[in-house]
Amino acid sequence: MDTKLSITTFTLFLFLASYVSAQTNGFNVTKYGALPNRDITKALTNAWKDACGSRTPSKVVVPKGTYMLKQIDLKGPCKAPINVQVDGKILAPKNPKLLNGVDQWVKFGYINFFTLSGGGTFDGQGETAWKHNDCGTNKNCDRLSMNFGFAFLNNSIIQDITSKDSKNFHVNVLGCNNLTFVNMNINAPATSLNTDGIHIGRSTQVVITNSIIGTGDDCISLGDGSKQITILNVRCGPGHGISVGSLGKYPNEEPIEGLTVKNCTLKNTDNGLRNKTWLGQC
Ligand SMILES: *[C@@H]1O[C@H](CO)[C@@H](O)[C@H](O)[C@H]1NC(C)=O
Ligand SMILES: *[C@@H]1O[C@H](CO)[C@@H](O)[C@H](O)[C@H]1NC(C)=O
Ligand SMILES: *[C@@H]1O[C@H](CO)[C@@H](O)[C@H](O)[C@H]1NC(C)=O
Ligand SMILES: *[C@@H]1O[C@H](CO)[C@@H](O)[C@H](O)[C@H]1NC(C)=O
Ligand SMILES: *[C@@H]1O[C@H](CO)[C@@H](O)[C@H](O)[C@H]1NC(C)=O
Repeated sequence: MDTKLSITTFTLFLFLASYVSAQTNGFNVTKYGALPNRDITKALTNAWKDACGSRTPSKVVVPKGTYMLKQIDLKGPCKAPINVQVDGKILAPKNPKLLNGVDQWVKFGYINFFTLSGGGTFDGQGETAWKHNDCGTNKNCDRLSMNFGFAFLNNSIIQDITSKDSKNFHVNVLGCNNLTFVNMNINAPATSLNTDGIHIGRSTQVVITNSIIGTGDDCISLGDGSKQITILNVRCGPGHGISVGSLGKYPNEEPIEGLTVKNCTLKNTDNGLRNKTWLGQC
């Protein structure tokens, strides 16, 4: 009798223990004071801090709704895998000066097992910035921020995210190992200035798949040190196509190795796949 009872209790205990450990720890920005149509920079920063410190896998949630966000730099290393799920629409300030000339509006860096997901949109609201972009003629022009910077991420996934109307390039990838982009939608009007889709540099094993990229500029460009890059089922255009380079402008550049481009559609693009090099600098 006693033995039977204790076995049952023990089984129940095991069941509960495995249930708890498999559960993801949720960090909803609403609980950190985020409100629709308001700035959520502080709420998101604080939710990230708690989630990143969690010893079990964690998820930061930005629920449906429209929110404002200033520049944000979310860094690891985190104690366990971490997922940021954005269901809502997040707007950058229209005035580029409000981003203080930072390279990237939304930065994620130094994280292992990071996922950004949710079907949400990051809108750079770049129209004002493109209108005042005089970088073609003015060397001291305002520095314009890209929508995303992903730096030094390992084993990470960016999925189901829309990046819209960035002020500059949409996505910059630097120093990442095993990073996959799936089901991305990256768009800006064909007339927007310098709004390249995804630029990769010094990274290994980057996959871009099942995605749509149309910005009027390069859909994807590979800088020095891009290795084992796979571009699969991507619809590209309007724009300049997929570019390797530019290479040869600076000393000590690393080679680009192992590029695979498969089953992509390029429509309204100046080029398909091209090499871009600077002559006579070596
Ligand atoms: C986050 O909180 C909001 C407001 O309470 C709620 O509507 C939403 O369902 C929550 N999302 C998740 C995934 O918990
Ligand atoms: C990512 O991997 C590199 C190479 O293995 C390692 O040096 C680095 O510490 C890792 N970064 C994180 C955040 O785990
Ligand atoms: C790459 O990262 C994904 C996502 O975290 C992971 O499932 C996969 O095992 C990693 N691949 C390698 C070769 O480490
Ligand atoms: C190739 O791309 C087309 C159009 O995007 C898609 O419908 C098809 O499933 C892809 N084929 C493979 C083998 O992935
Ligand atoms: C790009 O340059 C590499 C290395 O010189 C060469 O093998 C390749 O054929 C070139 N590709 C195109 C599309 O010109």
